[in-house]
Amino acid sequence: MKTQVCIIGGGPSGLLLSQLLHRKGIETIVLERQTRAHVLGRIRAGVLEHGFADLMREAGCGQRMDAEGAVHDGFYIAHDGRMDRVDLHRFSGQSVLVYGQTEVTRDLYQARDAMNGQILHEVSEVVLHDLKAATPHVTFVQDGEARRIDCDFIVGADGYHGVSRKSIPADVLKEYEKVYPFGWLGVLSETAPVCDELIYARHDRGFALCSMRSQVLSRYYIQVPLSDSAESWSDEAFWAELKARLPEDVAARLETGPSIEKSIAPLRGYVAEPMRYGALFLAGDAAHIVPPTGAKGLNTAASDVHYLYHGLLAHYAEGDESGLDSYSEKALARAWKAQRFSWWMTSLLHRFHDGDSYDSRLQQIDLAYLFSSEAAQVSLAENYVGLPY
Ligand code: FAD
Ligand code: DHB
Repeated sequence: MKTQVCIIGGGPSGLLLSQLLHRKGIETIVLERQTRAHVLGRIRAGVLEHGFADLMREAGCGQRMDAEGAVHDGFYIAHDGRMDRVDLHRFSGQSVLVYGQTEVTRDLYQARDAMNGQILHEVSEVVLHDLKAATPHVTFVQDGEARRIDCDFIVGADGYHGVSRKSIPADVLKEYEKVYPFGWLGVLSETAPVCDELIYARHDRGFALCSMRSQVLSRYYIQVPLSDSAESWSDEAFWAELKARLPEDVAARLETGPSIEKSIAPLRGYVAEPMRYGALFLAGDAAHIVPPTGAKGLNTAASDVHYLYHGLLAHYAEGDESGLDSYSEKALARAWKAQRFSWWMTSLLHRFHDGDSYDSRLQQIDLAYLFSSEAAQVSLAENYVGLPY
């Protein structure tokens, strides 16, 4: 087989890039290890920056997102027995869209189907070849048969555990990592959200987050030790712990019900540099991951796609290499800012130590400063809604 851009990974990054390029007449083939049902079964991010929403519209995939997604002009931080609101719209002039990653992915698959986009599922043994040559290729196995794709470029959009990043020689790749000593236990339940905006809670018992997918579907998270397993948490225990970390009036109106999904995600910051090696370009979680506190994972994947899309367009339309040559530098600059913001939100709101300590006093002071300073709220708001591409 032959194509212009071979994309490894059919998650949101790979699908969005494939869709954007195809609309400009650039051919792609997407290789995905899992079934479509498996990819759509993963419950992950829920908050879209306005820049990501624009990119979905540009890809012709914004219709359902605009109809069903909820515009949020602010969110709450519960701390020290009170709720303070961050007015995103007032301090940044922008808002975010609450629309789940599952729905984003579903819309992208539907758009790819409508254009007869080529997505090969359940491929295995993907190997990248000749990355420094003018004619790279990818080999893989599908239905027990060895296959090969010749292409101009390879995009590694295969997530943190993918093969693409590992194809960059160890003496070229520099990795930066921060592992946090806790995880998030997430529960999805068919209940009405406890509040019409998100609530991030800092509590002596640990962090909690009240989020949502719709008016009848809620998503809640609590900070848990990494030694816990999702199975060890009954629904009753989860609701009791969540309530204990929320202000009393919020806890009193929390609607509980059976969980329809329950999982633990570890918290980690990670960046791989560079994001280009010859004909290979990394995008999204393949190159960087953040702790989820600032809702930046999916959104940073989308900004990579933006830079790569424009770089590839300029290459094919005008023979202009500047966008591809500066891709790694531009994408990393923005990804590092997302790391900084996610680290700050995580540090501000999680329990790191037992009891009262210097660091927990600093968290309280940081919050008191935040809500006493318009400049600090501007900084939080501009990062949360998404820094410019
Ligand atoms: P992925 O979504 O990981 O997609 C990569 C795709 O590549 C997958 O479909 C995978 O099956 C495929 N693949 C992997 N290896 C191969 C291979 N060898 N060959 C072919 N295909 C391959 N972000 C938030 O903002 N908020 C959240 O609450 C949040 N929760 C998360 C929970 C979990 C458990 C995880 C893992 C991530 C979470 N994130 C969250 C981050 C967010 O979901 C990611 O940033 C986003 O999915 C990145 O998209 P991607 O397409 O780059 O990678
Ligand atoms: C969700 C996840 C986040 O990490 C976040 O910061 C906000 C919302 C969510 O899954 O809804």
